[in-house]
Amino acid sequence: MNHKGLKGIVAAETSLSHVDGELGHLIYRGYDIQKLTEHYAFEEIAYLLWYGHFPNKEQLLSLKDALNHNRVLSDDLKKIITILPPSMDLMSVIRTVISAEGGYGNYHFPPTIAQAIKLTALTPSIIAFRKRALEGKEDVTPREDLNYVGNYLYMLTGEIPLPAHVQALESYMILTVEHGMNASTFSARVTISSESDIVSAVTSAIGTMKGPLHGGAPSGVLHLLDEISYTNDAEKVIRDKLEKGEKLMGFGHRVYKTHDPRAVALKSKLTHLGGQDEWLDLAMHVENIAIDLLKEYKPGRSLYTNVEFYAAAIMKAIQLDPMLFTPTFTASRMVGWTAHILEQASDNTIYRPESKYVGNHY
Ligand SMILES: CC(C)(COP(=O)(O)OP(=O)(O)OC[C@H]1O[C@@H](n2cnc3c(N)ncnc32)[C@H](O)[C@@H]1OP(=O)(O)O)[C@@H](O)C(=O)NCCC(=O)NCCS
Repeated sequence: MNHKGLKGIVAAETSLSHVDGELGHLIYRGYDIQKLTEHYAFEEIAYLLWYGHFPNKEQLLSLKDALNHNRVLSDDLKKIITILPPSMDLMSVIRTVISAEGGYGNYHFPPTIAQAIKLTALTPSIIAFRKRALEGKEDVTPREDLNYVGNYLYMLTGEIPLPAHVQALESYMILTVEHGMNASTFSARVTISSESDIVSAVTSAIGTMKGPLHGGAPSGVLHLLDEISYTNDAEKVIRDKLEKGEKLMGFGHRVYKTHDPRAVALKSKLTHLGGQDEWLDLAMHVENIAIDLLKEYKPGRSLYTNVEFYAAAIMKAIQLDPMLFTPTFTASRMVGWTAHILEQASDNTIYRPESKYVGNHY
């Protein structure tokens, strides 16, 4: 059997999440993501992944305090962000600044939850500071009365975000916090397995996430929604594409051979927010038409909406610049990476797979 890319190989045991592509299930620490997005905040999910149980009121308050305290960028980090060349892409900026943060704290092995909180708190602040600096705008001081996601939007725009927008983005960020042994998570675990530090492990993960095969943006779906919004005739646009044999962006999935549970959870959350934003409403309208037409043109293929579809609708609704898509995914995945780093370090064996020599012998 060909195990190229370690396909099908179990590389670690984890209690953090389970992805079931056949049944369309995704669980974090035993809890179905549908329930998690309906009833819990981003901070509670982060706590669950780091500590293994939900926080009580005091524990949640203390996590929020720690996030508030740690999200304020030091003058040194601000200076570093400012001197990086304007042409440097945002993922490289995050990687470089997080790496530089390693020079200011005590980040020796073994990693700690306090360090995980610090890196998670810093990421949205780095993104927002850099984005505003590129636009020649003053940076925005975070507010202690806003939550993790609310602060992210506030630091980007300088305006208090609409509750519907915060909730929509929060659902997306909860659903992308963790997804098993993907490439970036694997690279984080490999780095910490040498008893390196958490900053180095997260830096490896960001470098891996940066590649287009991993942190890709839902830009194809954005084009589709734009086209439909422009013509105001979803059925015609979709039918034309399927007639021409084109793939409909935001539908179908490699791993999930039934409904993508993240799309289902996002949709159900957005249904509650219905009527508050034209892009979210348009997405729900388009989905129904698209699924009917996919059944007509591709009978028996089980094609459903994937997470990219609703992610794109949310990004449209909150008017997030496309350059922020992968960085936003990075901010949420920071929780999953650091949880995996802690898990790996708690029962560590250095990764040392074999390679098979296929070169010459002289
Ligand atoms: C994600 C994707 C690559 C999965 O591909 P896959 O599991 O290998 O499925 P296949 O490409 O083998 O497709 C099986 C059949 O369904 C069709 N199909 C799959 N996705 C389709 C889509 N989005 N629109 C129209 N037809 C689609 C294929 O054309 C194929 O038809 P055929 O049997 O007549 O040849 C594919 O669904 C796709 O390209 N989707 C659109 C892009 C997208 O949304 N990507 C983000 C994923 S998170």
